[in-house]
Amino acid sequence: MSTRTRRPPATHNWRFATAPGGLPLIGHAVRMGRRPLEFLTSLPAHGDLVELRLGSNRAYLPCHPDLVHEVLLNARVYDTGGPVKDKARPILGNGLITSDWTDHRRQRRMVQPAFHPARLPTYAEVMRDECAAESRAWQAGRPFDVGNAMQALTARVTARALFSTDIADRAVAEIQRSLPVIVHGAYRQAMDPTGLLAKLPIAANRRFDEALTRLRRLIHRIVEDYRTAATDRGDLLSALLTAQDPETGARLDDQEIHDQVMTLLLAGIETTASALAWSFHLLGRNPAAETALHAELDEVLDGRTPAYADIPRLDYTQRVFTESLRLYPPAWLFTRTTVETTELAGRELPPGSDILISPYVLHHTPALFTDPESFDPDRWLPERAKDVTRGSYLPFGAGSRKCIGDVFGMTEATLAVAAIASRWRLRPVPDTTIRPRPHMSLSSGPLLMVPEPR
Ligand code: HEM
Repeated sequence: MSTRTRRPPATHNWRFATAPGGLPLIGHAVRMGRRPLEFLTSLPAHGDLVELRLGSNRAYLPCHPDLVHEVLLNARVYDTGGPVKDKARPILGNGLITSDWTDHRRQRRMVQPAFHPARLPTYAEVMRDECAAESRAWQAGRPFDVGNAMQALTARVTARALFSTDIADRAVAEIQRSLPVIVHGAYRQAMDPTGLLAKLPIAANRRFDEALTRLRRLIHRIVEDYRTAATDRGDLLSALLTAQDPETGARLDDQEIHDQVMTLLLAGIETTASALAWSFHLLGRNPAAETALHAELDEVLDGRTPAYADIPRLDYTQRVFTESLRLYPPAWLFTRTTVETTELAGRELPPGSDILISPYVLHHTPALFTDPESFDPDRWLPERAKDVTRGSYLPFGAGSRKCIGDVFGMTEATLAVAAIASRWRLRPVPDTTIRPRPHMSLSSGPLLMVPEPR
């Protein structure tokens, strides 16, 4: 999607502000904890870079796309870090998301080939089969939780793209059982400023530890099986096992492979599922967009199951998903931490400063998107998209840590929306209010909808 390049003027008069409403000791922690979306989206009105206090920590929210880019494109100075990443490390180990700058570059070189465009058609076969199976399984007229269904679908797709052997079925069952417990537990721990919650002998912690142990065991067993068989199966895990660092010739060891698999499961399943659920929610409330989508699907597919080769012609389908990612970006907030003294927006930041990057804030800023609350897939038509300010649409991040699964996720979502919407119309259940839940990803919570055959 083309975007207009906008360079900041050499001497930009950046506005710096302190977020209003901070309380003694806790600062903005309560507002951030209770209604983070409302709080964060109120901040660009105060400045281009806004300082907030979360307990005794200071954090900075860049609200201008040029400042966000400055942070994301300078990964050495603005490294991964902060309290959320610290708490993710015991779960994810040392994989792409948790590794620091020096090691990240090596890891990315090793994992990138698994996402090479040449491998996508093979992954897309899994996506096509699973999306078609999902859309066949529904029963007309019976309300069901679309969020859960999308979660199950993306878990099956990701597991079968990772592991193409018979083990996939067992893996899917375990992933579906364990992953929600792990994601929920990780979120609770990330939000706990004391760090004590994880140590309490309570049932929730026990369930979390057990789920993590089960998933780890499963991954270890699968990696062992693959090593013994020593065959390239064309799946993601085979790609990781055969990956060789072009600079040193080294390969990933078993622990590194384990950590990358865990990272891919945690990064790839919930994100895509949340965005898909939002797409159906938005279509259910925007009949004109739904009609336009159906017209495209009828013309391009003519009743066929959508496949990889159809994607270039599914323009409107892709615009629907692109716009859903704008309104409800699953990665609504992520962080960086400065490793040395640096300057942002003319402000000196000491080492250890936490930077909050919020695609949600950018995507809802009226100065960046006309009528930002409206669902308008056609804002992504090429002739309109070219006016979108560079760096203001960031559902997959940017720079060297940009989502490695962006094309995978877009392909999966396009095929899922096409497969489902070519068979079904999903109707909202009357008198239900759906609000975004800013947890690990920006989910819709339970999303009951009623499938009607088309
Ligand atoms: C619509 C779906 C998705 C969204 C919105 C999304 C969003 C993101 C974002 C914003 C980041 C950057 C975070 C940061 O800079 O700290 C990221 C990183 C990542 N994503 Fe995704 N993602 C999606 C799907 C996927 C899929 C399907 C996979 C894998 C199968 C995946 C794997 C990863 C990994 C491994 C990283 C870390 C990359 C690195 O640091 O080098 N994501 N994702």
